[in-house]
Amino acid sequence: MVKKYVVKRSGKFWPSEEMKRIAWVSDDKIYKEAEKNLIKFWEKLAKEGITWEQEWNETYYEKLPYFEWFKGGKLNFCVNAVDRHLDKGSKTALIWIPEPLNEKPIKITYAELYEKVNRFANVLKGLGVKKHDVVSIYLPLIPEALIAMLACTRIGAIHSVVFSAFSAEALKTRILDGNAKILITADGYYRRGKKEYLIKKAKKAVKGTDIKKIIVVNRLGKKVFGRKYLDFKKELGKAETYYKPEIMNSEDIMFILYTSGTTGRPKGVIHDIGGYAVQAYWTSKWNFNLHDDDVMWCTADIGWITGHTYAFYGPLLNGATTLIYEGAPDFPDPSRWWKIIKENNVSVFYTAPTAIRMFMRFGDKYVSKHKLDSLKILGTVGEPIDKGAWMWYFNKIGKGRCPVIDTWWQTETGGTLINALPGVGPFVPTISGRSFPGTKHIIVDDKGKLSQEGKTGNLVQVSPFAPGMLHGIYKNHKKYAETYWKRFKTKYDTSDGAYLNKGLIRITGRTDDVMKVAGHRLTTAELENALNNHRLVNESAIVPTPHKIKGQVPVAFVVLKGRKKGSERLIKKLKKHIDKVIGPTARPEKIYFVQDLPKTRSGKIMRRILKSIINNEKPEGLTTLVNPEIVKDIKGLISEEGK
Ligand code: PRX
Repeated sequence: MVKKYVVKRSGKFWPSEEMKRIAWVSDDKIYKEAEKNLIKFWEKLAKEGITWEQEWNETYYEKLPYFEWFKGGKLNFCVNAVDRHLDKGSKTALIWIPEPLNEKPIKITYAELYEKVNRFANVLKGLGVKKHDVVSIYLPLIPEALIAMLACTRIGAIHSVVFSAFSAEALKTRILDGNAKILITADGYYRRGKKEYLIKKAKKAVKGTDIKKIIVVNRLGKKVFGRKYLDFKKELGKAETYYKPEIMNSEDIMFILYTSGTTGRPKGVIHDIGGYAVQAYWTSKWNFNLHDDDVMWCTADIGWITGHTYAFYGPLLNGATTLIYEGAPDFPDPSRWWKIIKENNVSVFYTAPTAIRMFMRFGDKYVSKHKLDSLKILGTVGEPIDKGAWMWYFNKIGKGRCPVIDTWWQTETGGTLINALPGVGPFVPTISGRSFPGTKHIIVDDKGKLSQEGKTGNLVQVSPFAPGMLHGIYKNHKKYAETYWKRFKTKYDTSDGAYLNKGLIRITGRTDDVMKVAGHRLTTAELENALNNHRLVNESAIVPTPHKIKGQVPVAFVVLKGRKKGSERLIKKLKKHIDKVIGPTARPEKIYFVQDLPKTRSGKIMRRILKSIINNEKPEGLTTLVNPEIVKDIKGLISEEGK
């Protein structure tokens, strides 16, 4: 009989008896237990969840803006994700679904993963990679990405993964920031039936960097020549099968992941080993109720934190099976995901609201024909989810049987922080829920005073800060201190707005100039910088505007040099330019050529006014403008287009 994991009571969804029966956490005593002593709580979790070579001597140390967990503790991350599951070595660790239908899925057991990771660790060592060196990884969602990342953790190197859809320039900036000597990439991958040649971008990116060797996964059969290039498979085959794991300090850097901040340059968010491992382990276990027989599918790419923590590390730390896939959700048709769930008995499915909204648009027919009865838990992440999308996800994918866990978190937090636990609930559309046991978030006004229930304020985290939190911005103390600690001093500033609804947290979205475009994080500044660097552009302003599927999209207002008039051709060129500088995810939805931008007397561009115009609202604060007449022109331009 198909099991039901939720019940409806007084307008809300709650875990069913069956869910409570199978849940690791099945009542809310856990929150109270944690609150008694948050540090002791994490100490207990760290001991139970993670294998340490040496225990720490100080559980939590804080000297803001920095803090450390498990100081003095020693461990190896790879041992925790792989070696300790060798007693069930024949169990599948990873399922990979290639895009071409004539290629078979690949399953890798824990024992096989162990061998490959050990071998690759030796490859890296052979190339001179040492503890604390940064290794750049520019790979699509293929098994080699997992092997490469884990091998880095085995030898104590720091991995820096760059999203494969990012441009050569974006990769180059990140290689330079980490001063990497080794790049791991692929000749390419399949997407929507086409071959995408990643290697072209990689070759361009390494020019002018210190990259000495490029290890290339041969996915498309393209021959890559040159002394710098090594073949992933060949090197793996030649390497020794054992690498003794390096014993690392808990506070050593495990990885850097770049994310958009308020100014143009991406920030290298640093995560350490011990704290991250503890949070990845427990959030995966409790949010997704991972057991031995679970197959988890997190659809995020490894270029993002969600991919790091919930496509790879969290499930593996728990010894579960994780699934990844190559390609696009709607190719060859919009049934692809539902077929993958069915054919692989996926029990935990974790995706973004953008994907859900896209499937809604395709219509129910693609999903209705699939029973999807292996599913137990559905998760969502990355942007606020509207009620319509939540209910569709719940009814059409979960068939009204599975809880929807709306997880709020950030690249900076390493793991989830606010959501309902599947065995505790309640599951309320648009509301994320409570702080994960052992963590504490409050909502404050701009002065840092506690906001009242129902009033939107700033979401902040209070001490002791969660173990998975960032440990700085790579080589940029100033940015770290300013971005997260300047406004509220002793509280971590999330830059998200939120309010309390009957004690549960509802996220309203970013309060800074960060946009979430199809779940991807972008800033107005990085897009403007990219546009302004085009030889024909004098200046530009980017504003986000709501979009039915992607949540938000950027719209650009561009002043050309010499105030020249633009053309359709130039719009295409500028879009291509953005693809080249950042990547297609950042491509503006629309570009308007204007004679001037609304500015204050001090020359500040008033994006707020542009936003009102584009959203058909009455712009306010026109009196502060030095050029109010331009507002009328821009309005005219937009309404002209709407005709
Ligand atoms: O604005 C919040 C939004 O995504 C931001 C973090 O983006 P990123 O670092 O790319 O990490 C995304 C994956 C963890 C947050 O500041 N966000 C994330 N999850 C949610 C969300 N907004 C609303 N609801 C969520 N569940």
